[in-house]
Amino acid sequence: MYKNRRFLKARIEISMISTQGSESGKRTSLHGHWSSKMAFILAVTGSAVGLGNVWKFPYVAGENGGGAFVLVYLACVLLIGLPVMMAEILLGRRGRRNPVATMALLGKEEGGSSKWKLLGVLGVVAGILILSYYSVIAGWTLFYIVKSATGVFQGADAETVGAVFGGFVGSWQAVMICHTLFMALTVYVVARGVERGLEQAVRFMVPALLSLMVVLLGYSIVSGSFAEGLGFMFTPDFSKLTWNSVLAAMGQAFFTLSIGMGAIMAYGAYLPEETSITGASGAVVTADTSIAILAGLVIFPLVFANGLDPAEGPGLVFQTLPLALGQMPAGAFFSTLFFVLLSFAAWTSALGLMEPAVAWLVEHHNRSRSQAAVIIGGLIWLLGIGSVLSFNVLADTQFLAGTIFDNVDFLTSNVMLPLGGLIIAIFAGWVMCRNSSADELGGAGTVYKLWRVLIRFAAPIGILFVLLKAVGLLPDLG
Ligand code: TRP
Repeated sequence: MYKNRRFLKARIEISMISTQGSESGKRTSLHGHWSSKMAFILAVTGSAVGLGNVWKFPYVAGENGGGAFVLVYLACVLLIGLPVMMAEILLGRRGRRNPVATMALLGKEEGGSSKWKLLGVLGVVAGILILSYYSVIAGWTLFYIVKSATGVFQGADAETVGAVFGGFVGSWQAVMICHTLFMALTVYVVARGVERGLEQAVRFMVPALLSLMVVLLGYSIVSGSFAEGLGFMFTPDFSKLTWNSVLAAMGQAFFTLSIGMGAIMAYGAYLPEETSITGASGAVVTADTSIAILAGLVIFPLVFANGLDPAEGPGLVFQTLPLALGQMPAGAFFSTLFFVLLSFAAWTSALGLMEPAVAWLVEHHNRSRSQAAVIIGGLIWLLGIGSVLSFNVLADTQFLAGTIFDNVDFLTSNVMLPLGGLIIAIFAGWVMCRNSSADELGGAGTVYKLWRVLIRFAAPIGILFVLLKAVGLLPDLG
């Protein structure tokens, strides 16, 4: 399988990785290793921080009533997300191959069956489906760069900003052009190999986005209904919580951390032996969660100050932030900067979403990396048309969870990712022998014991319970 030289070359082009020899007698990745622990943390943070934090978190929290949802989300991140992320990285580093091959190999080594590779297949499909709508929303951010730069939002009121949004998403042609542009940008970078550019982009983008959010937070405290926003986000009203919103909170935790689909496993394959998986995971989860909470703290006070609806849906960020930025001095500049940063955040995530499918096609079907990027990108673009039309022509065509967009989102975030997480937890906690996992996590200390309890019990039971409860397969006991 690894005789495929084109594959080798292609993966080495995903540099950020410098080729080093084996530091120990252990398995090494043929594609080299990350140049530093920081490079790994940056790459994983780049994939985690994206539209999920700034666009999705506020609107899903808004739709699910705020406080109680946020609390469940935080619990899921800490008790399920963090241990599953550690498990994904440790499996990746143990196998040192792409997710399909890693699971096939470890499955045989640890449990006697290569069937575990189906987890990799689930991830490939999930990545393709997520990117099909992710690209559409990322296309909106591209449109908003142009709109902001031309000063449309300068001094605009809520109605004007709302009309710009409605006019834009109402035109399938406009949304299609932006979706096409974003996919082209993604395919371009994936085909060329990411090179150092990505690492540099993430190094700059994440701190810049964080700083800009803090500036916006200042504005929101001064000009928004801050107390009301804060109350909405942090005062839990459990009467509003249904099993479906608990599922949405868990799905959001998986989505925002990029876990449950093997993407982080693929990144873990290049992690040097001596790097602490716990430390790296902790850093990524902290950065990702801070940006999401910050986004909520910026957006909800503005929502209430301007008489908007927190349950507005996917347009929420696109209607509140341009409004706020338009009121600020140099608003056109800051607004443009914000959407440029958000596009970058989406772009670095899109690369991660596409990687499992591209790596799989290159490796198993003997394609060059460019060919694979174009084929997978074309497929994703085609599937994305369903989501493009969900906001205009087919907005009234609703079934199951809603529009085509709603259904793809529900199926991936709330079903496929938790299912992937469940399989990862079962494998790492129950199938893999204790020595193997302790070895990767730096010995059987307190942290390891805590992780093992979470990965064996909290994660699988929690995921299974929520999934079954949400589809009504478990009875309500009182
Ligand atoms: N975490 C990304 C975001 O919040 C989206 C995402 C989900 C992702 N799964 C992924 C990105 C896998 C890269 C790889 O926007």
